Amino acid sequence: SSREAYRASVLHSIGNPTHMGIENSFQYFEDGLLVIKDGHIEALGHYRELSEQLPTSLNVIDLRGQLILPGFIDTHIHYPQTRIIGAYGDQLLDWLNNYTFPEEMRFSDVDYASEVAIEFFDQLLMNGTTTALVFGTVHPESVDVFFQEAEKRNLRMIGGKVLMDRHAPEALSDTPETGYQDSKNLIEKWHNKGRLHYAVTPRFAPTCSDEQLAMAGKLLAEYPDVYLHTHLSENKQEIAWVKELFPESKNYLDVYDQHGLVKPRAVFAHGVHLCDEQCHRMAEAGAAVAFCPTSNLFLGSGLFPLEKVEKIGVRVGIGTDIGAGTTFSMIHTMGEAYKVMQMQSCKLHPIKSLYQATLGGAEALYLSDKIGNFIPGKEADFVVIDPEATELMKTRMEHCKNIEEKLFVLTTLGDDRAVSQTYSLGRRVYSRDN
Ligand code: GUN
Ligand code: FE
Repeated sequence: SSREAYRASVLHSIGNPTHMGIENSFQYFEDGLLVIKDGHIEALGHYRELSEQLPTSLNVIDLRGQLILPGFIDTHIHYPQTRIIGAYGDQLLDWLNNYTFPEEMRFSDVDYASEVAIEFFDQLLMNGTTTALVFGTVHPESVDVFFQEAEKRNLRMIGGKVLMDRHAPEALSDTPETGYQDSKNLIEKWHNKGRLHYAVTPRFAPTCSDEQLAMAGKLLAEYPDVYLHTHLSENKQEIAWVKELFPESKNYLDVYDQHGLVKPRAVFAHGVHLCDEQCHRMAEAGAAVAFCPTSNLFLGSGLFPLEKVEKIGVRVGIGTDIGAGTTFSMIHTMGEAYKVMQMQSCKLHPIKSLYQATLGGAEALYLSDKIGNFIPGKEADFVVIDPEATELMKTRMEHCKNIEEKLFVLTTLGDDRAVSQTYSLGRRVYSRDN
């Protein structure tokens, strides 16, 4: 059995600030000690108090001047789109046809897929992201290489093969039957293997026939703890198209609901243009929405109505949505979320965006018994942040009164440069110094 302790400033969320109030929703230890035993959190407290209770032989790693946060949780990202970030000029539907589909076709080559998966995990870890809900491509092998690389790094990861049987290039299309069988094989192979989980992944309503959505529902009925991952109500043209394709459905969410896809562990990316009725239905079902600020800005999709969605009680996580999103950095994404709220005359408190990027993401994914903060017994996934990573951050931090202000400056100026180390299950999986 192994035990280590890290001495640093430590900050984590302990609940939803919207329900508990900001002050009660986090803990901060200026001179803190985080004790890890066998890859799990054993204790967290003030260095002075806690170090007295522990054996003097304890291995204390001195990280004073640094800030430890829980590993970030990215609730919506596409690994096969790593190489198309910043594709110029289009909104959603043209962007898919002109950039996304041609790139995803390359993933029929498993060597290519494997190369990109490695790049993808390098980016996640250098940005401090330790858990993500991830799209593959239509090719089952793209998901095999994703899980293989996740397993090598001992990460808690969720992924799935895209289901798409219409309105897409032939080479990227499956059928309801092959989609079902390929997904089933992947579930049997990977779901709940170590820290890995499977997500049934219909791309979005326009590229799935009713038969295919029904097959997705069948899979979820057979495997109740498998995730559902798709897109919802992102772009006005997309929504109009869904209305045309599914005239029988009350609204966009209802297309999924009619096939049993709206349930706990269902995560819908975007939800920019949801009406109250759809929000109420998601809240009632225990489904979650992934707020993807950089993607919604980049594709001109719109401003996510966070306050309304939260007030109705929907679980909300934050997603980078690479490659429509423009950064792997959850820190930077938190800063962009703030700006999206400013555009709607709302405030996003830094403690709240920390919650959404960590514990709130874990709750959205029904993983908060395992990850999201430093409650004893949880898995030790954490990030070591250098609040003075750049000259500008250093001078700016000196003028901050408290940790809230520092955190806000971090999300405004910070990105991967501020991540010095990333740990998964108590093991270092990234260090900026080598
Ligand atoms: N809707 C359907 N597919 C996609 C995708 O790959 N990215 C985004 N942002 N929206 C989608
Ligand atoms: Fe997406």
